[in-house]
Amino acid sequence: MTILQAGMNSEKKPVSKLRIPQHDLLGIDMLDASDITTILDLAEYYVVQNRRRSLTNVLLKGMVIVNLFLENSTRTRLSFDMAAKRLGADVINMTTDGSSILKGESLTDTLKTINAMRPDVVIIRHRGEGSAEDAAKLIDAPVINAGDGTREHPTQALLDALTLRRHFSKLEGLHVAIVGDILHSRVAHSNLHLFKKMGVTQSCIGPRELLPLGVDGTQDLGAGLKNADAVMVLRIQKERLSEKLSFTEEDYFKAYGLTTERLSLAKENAVVLHPGPMNRGVEIDAALADDPTRSLITTQVEMGVAVRMACLDLLTRGARIAC
Ligand code: NCD
Repeated sequence: MTILQAGMNSEKKPVSKLRIPQHDLLGIDMLDASDITTILDLAEYYVVQNRRRSLTNVLLKGMVIVNLFLENSTRTRLSFDMAAKRLGADVINMTTDGSSILKGESLTDTLKTINAMRPDVVIIRHRGEGSAEDAAKLIDAPVINAGDGTREHPTQALLDALTLRRHFSKLEGLHVAIVGDILHSRVAHSNLHLFKKMGVTQSCIGPRELLPLGVDGTQDLGAGLKNADAVMVLRIQKERLSEKLSFTEEDYFKAYGLTTERLSLAKENAVVLHPGPMNRGVEIDAALADDPTRSLITTQVEMGVAVRMACLDLLTRGARIAC
């Protein structure tokens, strides 16, 4: 069995734990450990559902979901779209291109306009930290943060957690090393919140200029990888840099690029994760990224659909019961 097939399968919907108290999903910081477990348990059920191509799920039939992506995306946008459609909802995808934002309309006016049309869920990605919170104040329906600047990307951390939990059959007690641009990464920030809540030990590794102040990090790859069960590799977020970096991509690969050889500095059989998009030959070696015995990167993408199905199910529960 390859690691892509490993993990638990859940045929039965875990009916006993089907609620989270939150109206919106804006960050991992607003969830507690039991909310996270509820989402992951329900996502296990949706992994099975998503693999059954013949399935016609009508849970969200009649609902209209607005997928508002004002920053570029492949995986997150597509998987929210797919998750909503797998649950029977209609989806409207909106990006900056082709919208009145290019005519100078503000985010606030864009959100007020969307709200006036009474959508059932709004998913938002925007470069501004706190933009999802602002959206939740203006939108009556549940709002899901699909990435607000460098702040949070909660569904990415949840899909990473589901990937790890399926591979190791637990989260508590694991040690995950994060390598790369932690300073600008909303993925790292959401994961660090999640690790703390779920009893996962973390080590942060990267050049000094990419490690946030206040985070206990190391510039030494070998020291940071020691005893790690999993290594999460992040790209350098060039679009968020305010100053030119003091090193080239070649220097970076020499010092921090993860290869199969370097992965051996972690625990035996340690696995690698990457949220994508990858820059092969910069932060990760292509052979390692494509090695099905060490890389969980494709599994992460699959888990993204299941986690987003679970989040859409849980956040629309109130509205569905009210009908
Ligand atoms: C990440 C993001 O957009 O924050 N990608 C993703 O959602 N899968 C990471 C990144 O862009 O580097």
